[in-house]
Amino acid sequence: MRLATHWRRWAAGTAAAVVVLPLGWLWYGSLLPGEYDMAQMGYADWGGGPRGEHAGMTGAHHGTPVAELTADPDRPAEVRETLTVHDDGRRITVNGSTPGPMIRAREGDLVEVTLVNDNLADGTTLHWHGVDVPNAVDGVAGVTQDAVMPGEEHVYRFVAEDVGTYWYHSHQVSHEQVQRGLLGALVVDPAQAAPADVDETFLIHRYTAAGSLNGVEGFTEVDAEPGDEVRLRLVNTENGLATVWLPGATFRVLAVDGTDVNQPGDLTEVAIPLPAGGRVDLGFTVPEDGVRVDFSGGPSLGFAADAPESRARPPDEVVDLLTYGEPEAPPFDIEDPDRRFEYVIDRKPGFLDGRPGLWWTVNGGIFPDVPMYMVSEGDVVVFEVTNNSGDAHPMHLHGHHALVLSRDGEPATGSPWWVDSLEVAVGETYEVAVLADNPGVWMDHCHNLPHAAEGLVAHLMYDGVTSSYAVGGDHGNHPE
Ligand code: C2O
Ligand code: CU
Repeated sequence: MRLATHWRRWAAGTAAAVVVLPLGWLWYGSLLPGEYDMAQMGYADWGGGPRGEHAGMTGAHHGTPVAELTADPDRPAEVRETLTVHDDGRRITVNGSTPGPMIRAREGDLVEVTLVNDNLADGTTLHWHGVDVPNAVDGVAGVTQDAVMPGEEHVYRFVAEDVGTYWYHSHQVSHEQVQRGLLGALVVDPAQAAPADVDETFLIHRYTAAGSLNGVEGFTEVDAEPGDEVRLRLVNTENGLATVWLPGATFRVLAVDGTDVNQPGDLTEVAIPLPAGGRVDLGFTVPEDGVRVDFSGGPSLGFAADAPESRARPPDEVVDLLTYGEPEAPPFDIEDPDRRFEYVIDRKPGFLDGRPGLWWTVNGGIFPDVPMYMVSEGDVVVFEVTNNSGDAHPMHLHGHHALVLSRDGEPATGSPWWVDSLEVAVGETYEVAVLADNPGVWMDHCHNLPHAAEGLVAHLMYDGVTSSYAVGGDHGNHPE
């Protein structure tokens, strides 16, 4: 009897140990050091070449520090702004409002923005979403700079080479700071080209459960007359897909993520799905009885039109950018890429920095056990992004534009479709091509920002670049 009890206890204890010890090991192994730099994280090397050739963090401790990858420091700025961010307890404002002021530059201008942190206790940064800025001013805390603490300031300088519609937002504790309002529009006009009669920019955002346009819930009347040519720039700053539709009107999609569509055709009764972080510029002529633009989440716009009496449902059909517009030869050779990378998104239970949960995985690993995609300057890189995770992910690569090649094996046949924010729906696989022409360390993450905080983050890193900053540590850098 005594012996049996003893035996049972021993068996139970062993069984518990069999479960607990490996779990403890997993937990311990998942803990991030108090401070870590990108290059030392022991990221698995998923480089396309033979291991060793580009393996490891070549140049991690010798080479060009990220901080030196700047615009010409001696060139005077054409556009100068100071943006002061303030936490009023409820929202985070930029120069007293949210969204913050629009920054508008002309192609080729040097833009110089001074960020001042009034009182954001966590610190803050500014990231220029979709603009291929020099790496030093990409604004990612712990990757390209330290978070700017209360009372401190930080200067960002870049040449506005990319014409189009962009936005800026915090990349420090971004899942909180962006939702609470630390964001604004950035528009770069072409060096020459006559402006449209009406050129308006709206940031789509949810401060509360309801959607808003430039902070206004409900209906906004835009100043326009029948016959006006309109360029309507829309920026989705939410965490999820936004749907936009123009009941009854004929329109064109003039640009996607800042890049003009080649020969866009007329559309009617189709909805436009706009990924988190993504932008579209829509073009239309205001007809006699006006145009209304409706948005998921409730808000709407009227161009020479009144508030809707009741809202129609969005059309079932959506514009498919894989086939929209006319093809054009790509600016680099995509037939024979130097590297092919897989970016497979899934999810599994485990530990993320010691926290148990169901976390997003990249190529099977939970952050930081995810790829550091290593490239050399000049490489043509093809990414195959596959979403097996059961939830949609708006994927965003910093510092580069990506050309969509195919979706689920179906080649792109429309206008070149350039993205920096690509919705990868459940079960989809996209192939995109990137020209590695902007040395640095670049985030490649999900722009549903809570997902990024749940580990859906990887990086693209160039040979010969030194990571100069660290996540965690004295600066409390937490980019997600
Ligand atoms: Cu719009 Cu990594 O961000
Ligand atoms: Cu996601």
